[in-house]
Amino acid sequence: MKASALANANIALVKYWGKRDEKLILPQNSSISITLDGFYTHTTVDFNKRYQQDLLVLDGQEFRKGSDVYDEYTGRFLDAARGTAGSVLKAKVVSKNNFPTAAGLASSASGFAALAAAVNEALGLGLKGRKLSMLARRGSGSAARSVLGGFVEWKRGSRKNGSDSYAEQIAPPGHWPDFRIIALITSKKKKKMSSRKGMAQSVATSPIYNCWLDSAKGDLAKMRKGIKSKDFSLVGEIAEKNCLKMHAVMMTTTPSLIYWNPATLKIMNNIVKWREEGLECYFTIDAGPQVKIICLQERVADIIRKCRKIKKIKDFKILRPGGGAKTIDNHLF
Ligand code: PMV
Repeated sequence: MKASALANANIALVKYWGKRDEKLILPQNSSISITLDGFYTHTTVDFNKRYQQDLLVLDGQEFRKGSDVYDEYTGRFLDAARGTAGSVLKAKVVSKNNFPTAAGLASSASGFAALAAAVNEALGLGLKGRKLSMLARRGSGSAARSVLGGFVEWKRGSRKNGSDSYAEQIAPPGHWPDFRIIALITSKKKKKMSSRKGMAQSVATSPIYNCWLDSAKGDLAKMRKGIKSKDFSLVGEIAEKNCLKMHAVMMTTTPSLIYWNPATLKIMNNIVKWREEGLECYFTIDAGPQVKIICLQERVADIIRKCRKIKKIKDFKILRPGGGAKTIDNHLF
């Protein structure tokens, strides 16, 4: 009962920050993202009676029961998957990212989308689309979106059991082939506070949390419209403002969550300046110090030339719209 899968990371253009149900991983608001070709996770899972307990090997490091990574994430996900399948078999999971893990580059999104697709195959669950995104959601909310390719919305839903909180494609990757995200790496260190813990603290303590939820509704409507009509300025403006609103919530959380470093801020200031000079590009930032530039293909060369002059940028990668999670025959063990 072994299976493998590949899944791409995604970057949210309208963010999710806060849950209405911690166990089922149901969000406080809907979110919209772009699945990206280039940052991916490759995962192999094997359910077998010869395993006494679950084992996760992530980028060469082993995690078992008793470790945070297993107890808070993989273990909870595997239990949810076993519950769906009516199985009691323990699993071995080997997973590799082609980019830094847990540094604000959506590794949990590609990680759990790949694990969900592999588990679906290994346990013969036969889930597709919406249903598969709901399984991935149990690992990490943003993973629900990486199950699908292109521009994707993860719906908040209103039901208590989560049966209407799933991902749906707004447009396939081919809809906007010259849409680009340039991921700028400013630090390869693991972030200090996980999204899971951070967002729970924001819901509980940020005095502007309700403003964030109210304004998300308008952002979602404009973002859907911008994507469908390929209105780049609208998509960029909404994405950048939405990101700043999320970071305002993070900063006003107790204890405050400041994920930026000096390089993050320098790049943000530069992007605003470049835009004023006529080079259209926007930024978005998740729970980490990396900056993702949103632009069109025709601007990439100019932007990269300017980025090369910023010494604090450690590395960069140009990412284009990518496809959804898929099973493959290449096993990691
Ligand atoms: O799904 P998580 O726990 O990785 O949280 C993702 C949170 C953000 O990346 C900050 C926003 C988002 O919608 O992806």
